[in-house]
Amino acid sequence: MNTSTPTDTAVTGFQRFRRTRMTAPLRAMVRETTLSKDDLVYPLFVCHGNKIKNDVSSMPGVSQMSPDLLVKECAEIQKLGIPAVILFGIPGSKDEVGSEAYDDSGIVQQAIAAIKKEVPGLVVITDVCLCEYTSHGHCGIVRGDEIINDESIELLAREALSHARAGADMVAPSDMFDGRVAAIRTKLDEGGFGQLPIMSYAAKYASGFYGPFREAAESTPTFGDRRSHQMDPANSDEALREVAADIEEGADIVMVKPAIPYLDVIRRVKDTFGMPTAAYNVSGEFSMVKAAGQRGWIDEERVMMEMLTSIRRAGADIIITYFAKAAAKLL
Ligand code: PBG
Repeated sequence: MNTSTPTDTAVTGFQRFRRTRMTAPLRAMVRETTLSKDDLVYPLFVCHGNKIKNDVSSMPGVSQMSPDLLVKECAEIQKLGIPAVILFGIPGSKDEVGSEAYDDSGIVQQAIAAIKKEVPGLVVITDVCLCEYTSHGHCGIVRGDEIINDESIELLAREALSHARAGADMVAPSDMFDGRVAAIRTKLDEGGFGQLPIMSYAAKYASGFYGPFREAAESTPTFGDRRSHQMDPANSDEALREVAADIEEGADIVMVKPAIPYLDVIRRVKDTFGMPTAAYNVSGEFSMVKAAGQRGWIDEERVMMEMLTSIRRAGADIIITYFAKAAAKLL
């Protein structure tokens, strides 16, 4: 590459940013943000049965899996160098109060035990919510058209304790009800799990980007929406108050979700609290890239790495992403 034409050697009154961009090693030397396998968490959907693999049509490469296949997948994830997975359960049957969520023999509890037995080193995080388990698809108890807060957080605390008993390494409440982190912390402490960390979905927005996930987790509400508990996309001061409350209540890691449309929120949260900060690069963010990539409209790998790097640059320490396996293969 010709890096010094005669005109470029002249002393001039402007800065030459291009000097450190001329070769790959130079660019690497001045790179500010790194992405590592250690930053990644891979989401998994577990269903009942044996040798079951149901592909999720709106999320290419993502499937619901029965525990036997899930364990094999986890072994591969560990081999790729990804340190952690987050589990979502598809129950055998749903009811008004999401009973299987806090049943010690529920699907997530079975999956945790199986993973811990076969792939002991992998960090198993569980999503704590009722929406996959309730017949109405809401994240808690519903009376009339109201989603009840205080009774629901009791059930979420029972779910978290049940996951802990099954061997989970970390619980991640995703409901956005008020006071759930405190309720879960108290329940875990009383149950002898004082050392079990909580990663709270602290600033979780009522987002259209969850569409494909709801197919994967079979958790679309049968009526209404989640706007009475998830945050308004227009707010970011409120996100700081949500995060402050969760830290006060005992959260060890705080999450912003979705990631790409909320990079400003990630940055504010990181700068304000200096906490271990996670970002959830959600299903819609994933599926948009996959769809455009399949059509040849964008370079899927390049856009993936750019997105993940941007989330790190915004201040996230941990990225939960359906791209984890693909990214780990490149890193
Ligand atoms: C709730 C939950 C959701 C997601 C993670 N946990 C969906 C929702 O709030 O409706 C979304 C994740 C994604 O879109 O990838 N259990």
